[in-house]
Amino acid sequence: MTSTTPDRLPSVSLGHASEPGLTVPQLGFGVWEVAEAEVETALALAIEVGHRHVDTARIYGNERGVGRVLADTDVPRDDLFVTTKLWNDDHANARQAFESSMVRLGIDVLDLYLIHWPAPGRDTFVEAWTTMLELQREGRVRSVGVCNFQPVHLQRLLDETGALPSINQVELSPYLQQRELRAFHAEHDIVTEAWSPLAVRAGLLDDPVVSQIAASHGVSPAQLVLRWHLELGNVVLTRSVTPSRIRDNTDIFGFQLTAGDHDQLGTLDRGQRTGPDPDRFGS
Ligand SMILES: NC(=O)c1ccc[n+]([C@@H]2O[C@H](COP(=O)([O-])OP(=O)(O)OC[C@H]3O[C@@H](n4cnc5c(N)ncnc54)[C@H](OP(=O)(O)O)[C@@H]3O)[C@@H](O)[C@H]2O)c1
Repeated sequence: MTSTTPDRLPSVSLGHASEPGLTVPQLGFGVWEVAEAEVETALALAIEVGHRHVDTARIYGNERGVGRVLADTDVPRDDLFVTTKLWNDDHANARQAFESSMVRLGIDVLDLYLIHWPAPGRDTFVEAWTTMLELQREGRVRSVGVCNFQPVHLQRLLDETGALPSINQVELSPYLQQRELRAFHAEHDIVTEAWSPLAVRAGLLDDPVVSQIAASHGVSPAQLVLRWHLELGNVVLTRSVTPSRIRDNTDIFGFQLTAGDHDQLGTLDRGQRTGPDPDRFGS
């Protein structure tokens, strides 16, 4: 397949009344487990091949490396969408954690700040959310959201603060399709963002159904799976330190899945996580 990556990757509206006109590029470049030394090369190439959305977190330990790329790139800051996250032990200390992340990133305004996990056993995520809403009202962050929240956690935010996140970043793949959660998101205008979209640790890329549909389109299993995510309307985060994969994972705009492909991929759902269970993790 020759490269069909458009000049500007598609965006999704964040849609909340408090964020008029704010959009997020549908394809993001994640840097989990990318060492500080590697992040600059990988992210610089990602930007070169068209990425305008980077996803980091305090706990990834590479915000400074991301900040150096933001400072060095020719792409204007306003054309880049930057996300970082609040770690579990900072829930009660969200303002200070935010300011420390901003110093490491070297920017004045963040595009998206996320609570990394609900960590329900700590019972501190509502406190964190209240501070994040304040940061948004003060104009320090354009949009606020969460990761790994189940419907019960989202409902609690609504009941106790009257405000829902614009986006929920969750593990999602053909092996973990999260139908109930996505229905909650659709009902409440929350954007779904997929992490570990390739379910590499569960062997999704070797699944015969995935391989066969990918071959029918002349693309790789990873390209097929990423395209499936885009066609669901989700934001999807890719991650690689391998230059050929960074290019291939962005080159997913020259083909479309058929209704039959979607039906077949829909049957792969096993509710299989490769990461922690959000109801238990972080307590
Ligand atoms: N909010 C959360 O709790 C949470 C949790 C996990 C992740 N995330 C975010 O989501 C991002 C994406 O998740 P992830 O890092 O697990 O992504 P992923 O794309 O599902 O997995 C990345 C792994 O797949 C490999 N890979 C990438 N492209 C490939 C391809 N075309 N063919 C074969 N293997 C390929 C990479 O290897 P190489 O690097 O060696 O190429 C890497 O080992 C993270 O970086 C992070 O920003 C958030």
